[in-house]
Amino acid sequence: MEKEYVRCQIEEGMAIVTIDNQAALNALNQPTLTQLDQTFAALAKNQDVKGVIITGGGEKSFVAGADISEFNQVKGDTAASFMGRGQRIFDRIEAFDRPVIAAINGFALGGGNELAMCCDIRIAAENAIFGQPEVNLGIIPGYGGTQRLPRLVGPGKAKEIIFADERINAQEALRIGLVQRVVPKGQAVEEAKKLLKKIMSKGPVAIKMVKKAVNEGLAMSLRGGQDLEALCQSVCFSAEDKDEGARAFLEKRPANFKGK
Ligand code: COA
Repeated sequence: MEKEYVRCQIEEGMAIVTIDNQAALNALNQPTLTQLDQTFAALAKNQDVKGVIITGGGEKSFVAGADISEFNQVKGDTAASFMGRGQRIFDRIEAFDRPVIAAINGFALGGGNELAMCCDIRIAAENAIFGQPEVNLGIIPGYGGTQRLPRLVGPGKAKEIIFADERINAQEALRIGLVQRVVPKGQAVEEAKKLLKKIMSKGPVAIKMVKKAVNEGLAMSLRGGQDLEALCQSVCFSAEDKDEGARAFLEKRPANFKGK
């Protein structure tokens, strides 16, 4: 039987997905990527799950990159499909229709930083270290790093990080906008749960539409993005959640959203 590298625990409507291969600092080998993809496919069908937290097993590492020991199997003519597979798995996580928070508990290097960047929000423990060290191996980031990092921190900073393998600590990651919160070591998952519970108390249709408008709008012109925003708003105004939200406000009580 294949080793279990990805654990998924569901509590109070939150799925906590843990990449757990601590002997290799949770490096992403191919079975781990497959299990991660299967986990998200199952979560997509589970409407009891309102949001997801991704973290790494242990206290030392979130994910220390793609599994370097697999690289000798990859050649020039297979690299594009090998990397493309990982890119598509990360794209599916990014497009997951409920919020996904990365709780970064240690090293987030290479594919680890790329996995964190495809999440909606990143919370770092103060021992977290970020980087894209691929050029040390004579290759480039392959799971979206050359594209998502400049979008998050700007092209100059992204090139500095990638060209020189500049490692970024949690406070610096906060300063440059790579992460949104820094918490004491061991507290990232708890902080992510707190934030996710708050998000889960809002209108689920609205949250889904915010995610769609922001993610898809980033690839559009300002005008096109605003057209998309207006369409997403139509979806919200057609949903029962909107009537319940307004009613609850007028009746001075918390809204009881149904997510439809
Ligand atoms: N792929 C495969 N194995 C990895 C790995 C990776 N990306 N990162 C760490 N490991 C393995 C190490 O080979 C080591 O295995 P071993 O005990 O069988 O020798 C184990 O994890 C522990 O790593 P180690 O290097 O001994 O820990 P450290 O605390 O000295 O250093 C890092 C930690 C993260 C700085 C270092 O492991 C590292 O640089 N990893 C590679 C990061 C990287 O280049 N990622 C991008 C890949 S494209």
